[in-house]
Amino acid sequence: MIGRLNHVAIAVSDLDQAATTYRDALGATVSEAVDQPDHGVRVVFVELPNTKIELLQPLGTDSPIAGFLEKNPSGGIHHVCYEVEDILAARDRLKETGHRVLGDGEPKTGAHGKPVLFLHPKDFCGTLTELEEA
Ligand code: CO
Repeated sequence: MIGRLNHVAIAVSDLDQAATTYRDALGATVSEAVDQPDHGVRVVFVELPNTKIELLQPLGTDSPIAGFLEKNPSGGIHHVCYEVEDILAARDRLKETGHRVLGDGEPKTGAHGKPVLFLHPKDFCGTLTELEEA
C-alpha cells in the first residue's frame, strides 16, 4: 500500500540554526522558511535526491509540536511521511484492521497542498506516521 518516503520531519527549537546546519555542514539545498499557520509550524524544506527533510519550528502559542520539544529540547524526529495512491482507501483499510487515524479521520491539506492523514504512533512502532496522497 505505501509508496515512496515523502519526507522525514524533524522538530527544532531554532529553525535558522537548523537550516544553517543542513546548508553549511551537510551541503544540502535548503528552502526559505515558510509559515504554515494552519499547522502551527514554520517550515524549511531540505531537498535530497531521494526524499525531503522538513525542519519544523513551533509557530504560535498552541503549536502541535510544542510538547514534543519540551520532551526533546535539542530537537528530534517528529514524524515520517509515506505516499499512498488513494488516501481514503488507505484510511478505510487501516480503520478496518483496528488502526487509529488521528483527528476526525478526514484528510487535511498538508504542507505540499496534497491530502494528508496522521496515524497513531502507538499503532506504528512508536512513530507518528503521516500518509500523503501523491
Ligand atoms: Co509531514
